[in-house]
Amino acid sequence: MSQESRKNSLTQQTGSYLPPLHGKASAWVCGSEEAEVLYKQALENPEEFWAGRASQLLHWFKRWDKVLEADEERHKYRWFTGAKLNASFNCIDRHILIGRRNKAALIWQGENEMDVRCFTYQMLYTEVCRVAHALSSLRVRKGDRVALYMPMIPELVIAMLACARIGAIHTAIFSGYAEGGVRSRIQGAKAKIVITADAAIRAGKKKPLKANLDPILEKCPSVAHVVVVNHANLEDVKMQPNRDIWWHDLVEDFTLDVDFPCERMNSTDPLFLLHTSGSTGKPTGVLHSTGGYLTYAAHTTQWLFDMHDDDVHWCTADIGWITGHTYGVYGPLALGATVLMFEGVPTWPKPDRYWRIVEKFRVNILYTAPTVIRSLMRLGEAWCERYDLRTLRILGSVGEPISPEVWQWYYRNIGDSELPIVDTWWQTETGGAMIAPLPYATRLKPGSATRPLPGIDATIMRDSTSPDMDTSADRQSGHLVIRKPWPGIMLGVYNDEAKYQSYFSRFGCYESGDGAEVDEDGYFWILGRIDDSINVSGHRLSTAEIEAVLASCEEVGEAAVVPMPHPLKGEAIYVYVVTRDEVPWTDSLRKKLVETVRRDIGALASPEYIQFVEALPKTHSGKVIRRILRKIASGATLEDLGELTTVARPEVVQHIIFGHQNILLGMHESASMDVERDHAERAGE
Ligand code: PRX
Repeated sequence: MSQESRKNSLTQQTGSYLPPLHGKASAWVCGSEEAEVLYKQALENPEEFWAGRASQLLHWFKRWDKVLEADEERHKYRWFTGAKLNASFNCIDRHILIGRRNKAALIWQGENEMDVRCFTYQMLYTEVCRVAHALSSLRVRKGDRVALYMPMIPELVIAMLACARIGAIHTAIFSGYAEGGVRSRIQGAKAKIVITADAAIRAGKKKPLKANLDPILEKCPSVAHVVVVNHANLEDVKMQPNRDIWWHDLVEDFTLDVDFPCERMNSTDPLFLLHTSGSTGKPTGVLHSTGGYLTYAAHTTQWLFDMHDDDVHWCTADIGWITGHTYGVYGPLALGATVLMFEGVPTWPKPDRYWRIVEKFRVNILYTAPTVIRSLMRLGEAWCERYDLRTLRILGSVGEPISPEVWQWYYRNIGDSELPIVDTWWQTETGGAMIAPLPYATRLKPGSATRPLPGIDATIMRDSTSPDMDTSADRQSGHLVIRKPWPGIMLGVYNDEAKYQSYFSRFGCYESGDGAEVDEDGYFWILGRIDDSINVSGHRLSTAEIEAVLASCEEVGEAAVVPMPHPLKGEAIYVYVVTRDEVPWTDSLRKKLVETVRRDIGALASPEYIQFVEALPKTHSGKVIRRILRKIASGATLEDLGELTTVARPEVVQHIIFGHQNILLGMHESASMDVERDHAERAGE
């Protein structure tokens, strides 16, 4: 949906929903009056508020000297300085000590219905200690980086917690990334060890991971060892002597009853590194702290999902993304909950897979993405109607705006017109949700993530470089910024201070890169990215990264990548290519370019359409005018574009519009259908 039509449909949406009353008495935040008290406390005395949450939710080996050390000039925010803790201890050991020893910590459902594994807190402890010993035998020490290029299997969670136990910094790489995406992340982190698997299993197929990794590692000199989980029994996995070792062989040497003592980490020591797409071709290595991040993860998990001790919590996001880190691992395990983990996709073998899982494990909290709901919605209600979904208590949404239509479908068909939908706005950099309702306290408006959480000072700001932003009578729009620090704020950008500073350079406070509107009730309506990133199926991709891959093809003179609205993915990738002299505009070249992007970055960055053009619209000083390209990809006509005085050769624009209309006439329908099929398979990521 274009920004304009989205705005229209949001404006038409007048209904709002009161939270359900049942379950309210036991809720962590009961009703709007109690919520208002919390908002007020957090506003008036934020340090006391955050210190209170940190002491309630986590075990600290040593208490902090200061709640917050802020260097406003350099925008450095250090939470709970002087304090000591360990994330692995908080997610495992202390639950064992307080009577959750035999409680299921992690239930894993593999793609095959019969593949189920369950780890109690005690079992998780044993495995994590063994792996910590094993990694330590490979000389992994505090501060070293360990890359995790793994499918959604329990070993991924075990590896994360083993790193946290040692104090090593894990850096997960989504298993759907291909060569260039993986290489730049391993190189960026200077990882010492990579943990991977023989293959991931997706929609009945084995997708090799170790074999993908081998050529990449030739250019990653920092990697001393590769640990390989035998997950899919793939034959002929090549193991390089002295470098590669099977996970099962490595851990075998370590007996079951040997504790691995937790490193006493400073609150401000990094817990993990996770790369996200930035405004350049290079991914941004977001570094999160131990104490601040874990406090914020536990705090938001408890309040947003109203999490209680016997809840089964299912966050469907892949752990390769921040959502999987915060709400699939650290938040719920810090609270001692039961986490459900699923390796497969929502539509395989049939589109009832999610609802089968909800019924089978009596899931109470389901946190998923609008892209998943859209693809299931298209396949009809019959797939969910046959399952008993009555154990569900809270529904969540994340990653992209959820349109009121999709919200309503989720609410009616999965929530039985009763359950609160927690639409959570946040980012890799924020560590946890920032704008979201409290499920038994906040009146919901479909399509809005509602209000900033207590202690989060979000607002919108305008500047002269964003003329596209208008302000209507009852809504203000602008750049979404956060004015005060919160414990989940990133520690920094790994080895790139200039990039970190760029988040603060325009407004002097944290700039999210999103546009938003605020309505008369103070509710936030997220409009999407203002910078040059694209949100495909809830995943942030960098246009610059894709352009760099295209520019490396010998046939390409220039390429510009912009978002286009897409009914399933939210946004898809639209590419304008100027070929080099004499290179003909053929379908085979289109295919080759798509293939190159898929091979280099991964299928999630696959261009939806490639339009060959004579030239790109540029200013008189030669700068590509992306605003025009974005509008054309969204279907704008010449009239919609208005004044073209800034364009050096206005006739270029007319040609591009003409070419775009040809594309719409269905020249590439079949290619687009392939992508849709692919999307249906991949939506669960
Ligand atoms: O544009 C916003 C969108 O996702 C971006 C953050 O992407 P990433 O760092 O990959 O993290 C995704 C999961 C937290 C944001 O800048 N976004 C995320 N959640 C929402 C959203 N847009 C609208 N509504 C949301 N609930």
